[in-house]
Formats: sequence, C-alpha cells, structure tokens
Amino acid sequence: MKKLFDHHYRLNPNQQYSPSLIEFFIQNVQAKLPSRYIKVLDLGCGNFSIFEDVVNLDAHVTAIDFSEVAIAQTPRNSIINYSKISLTDEAFFKNNVFDLVFDSHCFHCLGSENERALGLKNIFNSLAVDGFFAAELMIQPTNCLINIPNKIIKTAQEVEQELIAVGFNILYFAISNDQEFCVDSGAERLKCDMLKIIATKY
Ligand SMILES: C[S@@+](CC[C@H](N)C(=O)[O-])C[C@H]1O[C@@H](n2cnc3c(N)ncnc32)[C@H](O)[C@@H]1O
Repeated sequence: MKKLFDHHYRLNPNQQYSPSLIEFFIQNVQAKLPSRYIKVLDLGCGNFSIFEDVVNLDAHVTAIDFSEVAIAQTPRNSIINYSKISLTDEAFFKNNVFDLVFDSHCFHCLGSENERALGLKNIFNSLAVDGFFAAELMIQPTNCLINIPNKIIKTAQEVEQELIAVGFNILYFAISNDQEFCVDSGAERLKCDMLKIIATKY
C-alpha cells in the first residue's frame, strides 16, 4: 500500500486534499474544540494538510503520512510539523497526546482487520482524556456491496461497533451518499457512502 501511495505522489505532486475534509472540520468539528491552545494530529495528510487552510485555530498541528514521497512534497517553512509516520506505529502514539486526532481519509486505507484495530487503539491511546477523534471514511453503500482492492470497506454499523469496542463514545454520526471513488486508473468507478464521525474517550 505504501508503495502505491509513493507512486501516486510521484505522479501527482500537486494533488489537492478532498474539500469535504475541510468542510467537515469547519462545519462540524471546530465548534466542539476547547477555546484554548490545543494539540492536533492530522492523519494521512498527504503532501498538504487541510490545517494549512484552517483559520482561527489556536493549535500546534502535527501532520503525519507514511509516504515519504508525500512528506518530501509538503510546504517548506510551514508551522505544521510534518512527519513520516504510520498510523500503525505504536511508539509514536504512546509517546504523544493530542486534543484532536483528525482522520484525513487515512483510516479507511488500512488493509487488514489487525491494522484497523491497531490504528484505532493508537488513536484512542494518544487522545487526551477530553480529546476528540474526528473522521470521514468510506463505507459500504446502502443498496449494494462493493469491493475495493487493498481496502476494507465496512458498513456504518460495523464502523460504529469497531469504535465502541475500543472504548469511544460517539457524539456525531452522519452518512452521505454523494461521493464517488475511482478504483482503478481510468477504468471502473465505484460509488461508496461516506461516514462522518466525531467521538470522545469519556
Ligand atoms: C486517500 S489519501 C488522502 C490524502 C489527503 N488527506 C487528501 O485528502 O487528498 C490517504 C493518505 O493516507 C496515507 N496513508 C495510508 N495508510 C497510512 C498509514 N498506515 N499511516 C499513515 N498514512 C497512511 C497515504 O499515504 C495517503 O496520503
């Protein structure tokens, strides 16, 4: 999977992040955050974190991605701390505490049940006691089952159970069915639904 993303960023150095991510942050997440200086982690930032474009947020932002090609393309002189780290890196998540972990379409890229469980445990462990986890992720559409290579696409109910099993309390849960993902270069286009979730540890 990492090789695929490295290859993707070599071919697409000017890739833009998905607009739905920043819309979700501004419309649903930002108002829930405490009005003090906070620590934010952006997961799967690619070569440009959405937090480059977020205004009125008093925060130290760390943005991670496992693709060194993407990280090498991130803006120079940014105040965001970009690092090549995987969501499955236990040491990083044990040694850092965040008030917000924001998933920029990284979690749904994990390719096995074990990786998903480890990724969620890492997120949970790195959150402050009153911290928030916010994610937008691909889920199965309501009217059919889709299969995307190298990805596990769950139903909304399965994702809900996955988060509850780790210990999260879900504050916000919204499904939209207006997004489309290209699965194979140029070939088939598959439609999946998107789930927006905000969860806490308490
Ligand atoms: C679908 S892309 C989204 C990129 C960007 N946030 C955007 O909106 O265009 C998923 C990103 O997650 C990264 N990624 C996938 N699995 C990862 C993992 N296990 N740890 C860290 N980053 C990962 C990929 O390299 C890629 O940049």
